Amino acid sequence: MKIVVTGGAGFIGGNFVYYELAHHPEDFVLCYDALTYAGNLETLAEAQQNPHFKFVRGDIADRAAVESLFEQEKPDIVVNFAAESHVDRSIEQPDIFLRTNVLGTGVLMDACRKYGITRYHQVSTDEVYGDLPLDRPDLFFTEDTPLHTSSPYSASKASADLLVMAYHRTYNLPASISRCSNNYGPYHFPEKLIPLMIVNALADKKLPVYGAGENVRDWLYVEDHCAAIDLILRKGKPGDVFNIGGHNERRNIDVVKIILKALGKPESLIEHVTDRKGHDRRYAIDPAKIQAALGWTPATKFEDGIQRTIEWYLAHRPWWEHIISGDYQQYYEKMYGHRGTL
Ligand code: NAD
Ligand code: DAU
Repeated sequence: MKIVVTGGAGFIGGNFVYYELAHHPEDFVLCYDALTYAGNLETLAEAQQNPHFKFVRGDIADRAAVESLFEQEKPDIVVNFAAESHVDRSIEQPDIFLRTNVLGTGVLMDACRKYGITRYHQVSTDEVYGDLPLDRPDLFFTEDTPLHTSSPYSASKASADLLVMAYHRTYNLPASISRCSNNYGPYHFPEKLIPLMIVNALADKKLPVYGAGENVRDWLYVEDHCAAIDLILRKGKPGDVFNIGGHNERRNIDVVKIILKALGKPESLIEHVTDRKGHDRRYAIDPAKIQAALGWTPATKFEDGIQRTIEWYLAHRPWWEHIISGDYQQYYEKMYGHRGTL
């Protein structure tokens, strides 16, 4: 089977490439990625040694390029990880999120219809459900929770989900969708909370916590997410929508303190800064459907996963030092340079 992994030079897509090569050595994995600021060929260096892997640079919103890929490669399965993925960037510049996340999804699915595939899988997010109140720990997102988005990023992902469901119903496209909670683990770009805090703490820089740090995220080790997608591809049915999460809710401030403790750094590095606009309060996934239908459960406890992640960043300094020595400097100054402290 030939699997096209779009966005495979990014965080989760890169981990998924390695997951597939390790668990299905009989398959062929092709990564199609535009190599935006978030895409990194160093992430795929080991995969490039594998004869069952190939990298093609390209944009999912470029119809001619996508059609030529399908014509030449004739994929069986397409898993779409390619996206603009950072909420803060979507608040600064929403238009690129619409182009990649919505139009790009449409272009990919049109090619799937034209050339034929056995499955199109859309990697979506729990953010399509909006947020939950902090004082109602009894509430969770199920697959029936209405889509109700907060940021340009989540609105673009929800729009893509609607388009996928429409293509499934209208054209009978064999499509599925998964909506996962926050991932963490190796190859996570250091604009996101966990890697940013690890990298800053290692440099004894301030750790910018938005507001009081009481917002809650439901963290899942990235390999568990990859395992769930793999199961959906192989055992799920067209039209399926699955939530993915492991009941691991944590306040941001508590996650940051765990990282500081593990690195032996003082809590005085924490700096409370101006909150994110429209900041979602709490995400919490109910994974009952995927557990019952496909038998998926997360294998990694947060205590182990965060330790493994910190060790990975300690052992792979060149990977993130190359990132933070480039355009990232300007990004950091733009996002944090003028942010007031609380
Ligand atoms: P990422 O930002 O690390 O990687 C995105 C990748 O997509 C990069 O390699 C980038 O070069 C590529 N890309 C961007 N625009 C492209 C385009 N137009 N054409 C081709 N490639 C393009 O993102 P991530 O955190 O790995 O997220 C992957 C997917 O999973 C996204 O769809 C995201 O919405 C979803 N998701 C992420 C999380 C999370 O916690 N990170 C959780 C749930 C769902
Ligand atoms: O829930 C899934 C989503 O998780 C994915 O769809 C997104 O692609 C992914 O980026 C992530 O979105 P979040 O906005 O939850 O992740 P982020 O790492 O940006 O922020 C996590 C929390 O930490 C959030 O409450 C904001 C806060 N935060 C973040 C940064 C970058 C800080 O307090 N300080 C920071 O510097």
